[in-house]
Amino acid sequence: MSKQLVNSKSIIREMGTVTALSGSDSRSSWRWRNVLAVLVGLVVLAEIGFLGKLDLERFTGSEESCEAWLEKEDWLEYSRDFSIKPIIVRGGEQDFKSCDVGCKFGDSSKPDAAFGIQDGASSVLRSMESSHYYTDNHIPTARRRGFDVVMTTSLSSDVPVGYFSWAEYDIMAPVPPKTQNSLAAAFISNCGARNFRLQALEALERAKISIDSYGSCHRNRDGNVDKVQTLKHYKFSLAFENSNEEDYVTEKFFQSLVAGSVPVVVGAPNIQEFAPAPGSLLHIKELSDVDKVAETMKYLSQDLHAYNETLRWKYEGPSDSFKALVDMAAVHSSCRLCILLATNIREKEETTLTFKKRPCRCDRGSQTVYHMYVRERGRFEMTSIFLRSNNITVAALESAVLSKFKSLKHVPVWKDERPESIKGGTELKVYRVYPLGMTQRQALYNFKFKDNAEFEKHIESHPCAKFEVIFV
Ligand SMILES: *[C@@H]1O[C@H](CO)[C@@H](O)[C@H](O)[C@H]1NC(C)=O
Ligand SMILES: *[C@@H]1O[C@H](CO)[C@@H](O)[C@H](O)[C@H]1NC(C)=O
Repeated sequence: MSKQLVNSKSIIREMGTVTALSGSDSRSSWRWRNVLAVLVGLVVLAEIGFLGKLDLERFTGSEESCEAWLEKEDWLEYSRDFSIKPIIVRGGEQDFKSCDVGCKFGDSSKPDAAFGIQDGASSVLRSMESSHYYTDNHIPTARRRGFDVVMTTSLSSDVPVGYFSWAEYDIMAPVPPKTQNSLAAAFISNCGARNFRLQALEALERAKISIDSYGSCHRNRDGNVDKVQTLKHYKFSLAFENSNEEDYVTEKFFQSLVAGSVPVVVGAPNIQEFAPAPGSLLHIKELSDVDKVAETMKYLSQDLHAYNETLRWKYEGPSDSFKALVDMAAVHSSCRLCILLATNIREKEETTLTFKKRPCRCDRGSQTVYHMYVRERGRFEMTSIFLRSNNITVAALESAVLSKFKSLKHVPVWKDERPESIKGGTELKVYRVYPLGMTQRQALYNFKFKDNAEFEKHIESHPCAKFEVIFV
């Protein structure tokens, strides 16, 4: 319609020129004037038609609700159907069972992404090593080197790859009796590390903490044993990492949790964020903490009730915060990579005019209804929710998300993964709702709409705003 408009306008301009040139011939000028009048009339009609069309795109209030009207008007087909043309990642193994978006790993001449630096495809870095040893894993360094997608243990990376999952570790395994005389067990294979773990070990020994060491570092026990089975019989487990890096928490920690042996940690400064419950671990943040930690170990080992309290989560279940963290791994990192890539492709398409023209809101009397989208973390497709202008609050958002997913009889993505004792029933509980595109660090720990005013501003500035929800 608008294209036609431009055309007829330029025709008139050309006609005007012709009229001026042929001004001497009054008869033809008369005829031209008539043609001009007709053309102007056509333009006016066209404009009315154009405006009329705009008018039609406004909610009329009859027959259908604002919500139904928005569902229809805002719905657009994306050009790529991932069930037919899946995301293709080159250079990896197809190592996951299923994925919510079409996702293929393997050889391809035209992949969407590939491991390593690539031309014409997203370059992906995937590593579970600490960036203190592999400096490329430092996110800003990786970006500078040209990686579009970073997958490391950091929860600030694009697709975090952690050492934890319900499937790999029987985290809720029962607590067996503590039969060993030594207070703690250590499995440290290498005394050399760029942090103070060796000094911490020696300082604990000096503080008269009895330690059975099965690793090659300060070994005093035969190391040819099953680690988790062995740990189970100790009150404490020395979970000493080789670097003190944020989010770098390895199997040392999670095996201690499986064993029900209270972890004494040297490692991630934010290890408390990985605790199954408050008060469930001891943290040696720096060497000067050792004596205090040693005192606590002695006290706990002599007070059975107090010691049992540190393992309470084994009986009553871990905190929501811990569940929300470990649940992330219920979706394989390869699948989460595909979801990210497919989401980026859709977001790019949403910057086109067709998508920008979606109404995303609808006036009903004195109220405005806002259209928003939400999906569960770990899933791809989004579903609609609506908020009214008299209630643009974070509470209303959470309540709208909850009732929408309830009405869909939604089954959380972690349902099959979690151990039986903490699976729960069919109820849904919202843990976090956050704008789509945030890192897991932001989503789980750092982000919060400051107040309802900030949330309202977000809604106003993001037509058809998209969110992700974490259920626990
Ligand atoms: C520890 O506490 C749980 C309940 O929280 C209880 O079932 C268990 O028997 C206690 N264990 C000991 C050794 O006291
Ligand atoms: C706004 O939404 C909240 C949460 O759904 C609800 O409890 C409250 O009653 C609503 N307020 C109004 C004015 O509709």
